[in-house]
Amino acid sequence: MNKVRAAITAVGSYVPDFVLSNQVLETMVDTNDEWITSRTGIKERRILKEPGAGTSFMAIKAAKDLLNKRKLDPAEIDIVILATATPDLQVAATAVYVATQIGAVNAFAYDLQAACSGFLFGMSTASAYITSGRYKKILLIGADKMSSIIDYTDRTTCIIFGDGAGAVLFEANEEGNGLIDEHLRSDGQGREYLKIAAGGSTKPATIETVQNKEHFVYQDGKTVFKFAVTNMSDVCVKIMTKNNLTSADVNFLVPHQANKRIVDATASRMEIEESKVLMNIERYGNTTSATLPLLLSDFEHKFKKGDNLIFAAFGGGFTWGSIYLKWAYNS
Ligand code: UT7
Repeated sequence: MNKVRAAITAVGSYVPDFVLSNQVLETMVDTNDEWITSRTGIKERRILKEPGAGTSFMAIKAAKDLLNKRKLDPAEIDIVILATATPDLQVAATAVYVATQIGAVNAFAYDLQAACSGFLFGMSTASAYITSGRYKKILLIGADKMSSIIDYTDRTTCIIFGDGAGAVLFEANEEGNGLIDEHLRSDGQGREYLKIAAGGSTKPATIETVQNKEHFVYQDGKTVFKFAVTNMSDVCVKIMTKNNLTSADVNFLVPHQANKRIVDATASRMEIEESKVLMNIERYGNTTSATLPLLLSDFEHKFKKGDNLIFAAFGGGFTWGSIYLKWAYNS
């Protein structure tokens, strides 16, 4: 009998209807479609416009999409983990509200925050719960309403981010499929380069912090870019080497969608051909915790049972890592 592994057995997603194109951004800040496309690969992003709707709105929709597709009774779910950098509220985990709204009445729920690596780290957490044997069904959601923390007069950040949500179900697998290996890292020196300075416990919100726009995302793009390119490639090559995977053995690279140039550099270090590199940044921009599950949702139809997927992410903190997972079903 094979070892028990944690496999992804269902996928769901949601993106808001409102499209913010490069052409519209040209009317808001001093930028242009050519610059954005060549520097990032982004053409448009989705923005959640519903009044009063936060991250939970999208997380609930993504979770319900999964439940409907899989015809799963939400009462069977043991744990709901929501990876997010933009919770509905500072206190009271958004995952708890989401779990209740979708009818996961027997689950406990909590949020997980690791910026753009939140979903990747959540995969590790979900896998550990499954392989412990204590829980059978874990719903892992990645959702972010980035538009709630972006300054739409700052051209260095507003062109990058978008809103969205994706969800996956983890269950035990004894056929040899599921999460095989992981290489996760973090470095606290990174927090100076990508952060929201105010509104936390070191600098609670005041009239001044709001006037200074310190509750918006600040990013030193150049520095983050350099760390992202080096570190994301390193962990991908490491996980391939450790698991004796050649580029021919890898069926798909599932990379965090922060910048097409970061993904291209990673794929090139791994010597992976373009057709195996999943990309949807052109349509959604960087949705932080949602990029990986949105890729799974968009490309689920391409995956076959036993396919080798390498997940990779890099984000604020800094946080980064790679995960090797064997896909568990044909859709
Ligand atoms: O997911 C979390 C992790 N985040 C990331 O991985 C993001 C990493 N960083 C990046 O993706 C890139 O650094 C950016 C896309 C943010 C910026 O691209 P870049 O090639 O690093 O541009 P830059 O910051 O070096 O700026 C180049 C020039 C500057 O002008 P000068 O000084 O050369 O005259 C900027 O002022 O481009 C200018 N610029 C813009 N021009 C038009 C900056 N933003 C814009 C803009 N439109 N939106």
